[in-house]
Amino acid sequence: MAMRSWLAGATVVALLGAGACGSPATKPLFKTDPRLPAPETAAFDPAGVGDPYFPTAGNGGYDVSSYDLKLRYDPATGRLDGTAAITATTARDLTDFHLDLHALPATKADVDGTAAATRHDGDELVVTPVAPLTAGQTFVATIAYGGTPSPIEDRRFGSGGFFRTRDGAIAMGEPASASTWFPVNDHPRDKAHYTIEVTVPDGLAAISNGVPSGQSSQGGWTSWRWEVTAPMAPYLAMLAIGKYRVVTSEHDGKPVVSVVADTVRGDDAQTALARTPEITDFLAQWFGPYPFDAYGGVVVDDERVDEALETQTRPVYPASTFRRGPDTVTVAHELAHQWFGDSVSLTRWRDIWLNEGFATYAEWLWQEHEGTSTVRERFDRLYRNPDNRIWSVPPGDPGRGGLFSDSVYQRGAMTLQALRDQVGDDAFLTILRTWATTHRDGNATTGDFTALAEKVAGRSLAGFFDAWLFQTGRPQL
Ligand code: TRP
Ligand code: ZN
Repeated sequence: MAMRSWLAGATVVALLGAGACGSPATKPLFKTDPRLPAPETAAFDPAGVGDPYFPTAGNGGYDVSSYDLKLRYDPATGRLDGTAAITATTARDLTDFHLDLHALPATKADVDGTAAATRHDGDELVVTPVAPLTAGQTFVATIAYGGTPSPIEDRRFGSGGFFRTRDGAIAMGEPASASTWFPVNDHPRDKAHYTIEVTVPDGLAAISNGVPSGQSSQGGWTSWRWEVTAPMAPYLAMLAIGKYRVVTSEHDGKPVVSVVADTVRGDDAQTALARTPEITDFLAQWFGPYPFDAYGGVVVDDERVDEALETQTRPVYPASTFRRGPDTVTVAHELAHQWFGDSVSLTRWRDIWLNEGFATYAEWLWQEHEGTSTVRERFDRLYRNPDNRIWSVPPGDPGRGGLFSDSVYQRGAMTLQALRDQVGDDAFLTILRTWATTHRDGNATTGDFTALAEKVAGRSLAGFFDAWLFQTGRPQL
């Protein structure tokens, strides 16, 4: 979905065509980011959106507004069958277009109801409609597919995506996972609405993102329906199928869906999850209103999931998170991502500190609130150590391999505290809230953030941000 989808189609096309990600091409996007070239003029690539860290992530030439997924999963065989109806708008004339789809054969495709040819090229599904699509045209591509899903194996990021488990399956992962369970424009730049219907044998749960919108059973199978009304980046879509305890409640008139795998012992996972509304409300005092219409969390129990992920409205936590007690710091981290990462999403992966630095800062705020340690103490303890490896990795450009490095998390959070020290509490709060509201349901860059901070501060912070985000070595205070 285009960032400014409320604009006329023609305007959206012009913006996308310029590759300027929603900002007019005349305005310099990256004023304080010395490493960035002039607004991108990269050539059109049908097999990637032009992310410098992940050149083949996503696809060029169109923008998805919604995915309507109907899936059926049989845990006995591990087979997934699905139909994806994808509504999208072209950014240019196209004789064909790509979708990302990993290890699952497409069996049938049509575009606006007329059969279309498909061809697999590795993890790219190339769809050729009978007649070329013209610039600005909205179309619906319906893809039927099915097979045995397998995760994406990445030497650096581990495996991501669809895993078969003892009693079902889990699909999740960052930076990529969606293409292991549906055909998708798999880059956070293309956010979209989703309806997700998952059919599984009676007695199993099928959990996904957003608002639960009904269940029905027929012939021994139950269909679970979920609706994601705010635009969502593909890697934030999740699926958990299996034996789960599902508890649905309400907070602020919105559904809270708390889900814990049957095999998890003790109460600590439930105890921590139960604090989701309270922690969200605490964070909302800092960041402004919670951006979504549903809450929740899913505790899974499979060794291959060993880290929590901020899947939209419903983070996934491995059982191990709560093995030594009801750890609410991780919950605060994943909930902070609902503002920073999920509602305000990356335009390119290099800006990952906008997600992880902010979520780590939220951990510090929560720990201060809980009386564990103050934000100041956390900052000082890290700053005091000149040998910390965070000083050798610039969080604003950590490299593909450094995407989830300590610098991104900790030096990223320190950058926010250092900014707070520069501009004062009031301006800092204004920056955080304006960031969350201005880019709500959209995408943004580090340049957008530094420009906002300078605007609120009323002065240049170029040297400050350069030292904290883009240089190696410990910045002077
Ligand atoms: N974004 C996750 C976090 O901060 C970390 C993460 C990166 C992750 N890649 C992942 C978690 C893959 C699970 C799977 O909290
Ligand atoms: Zn995180």
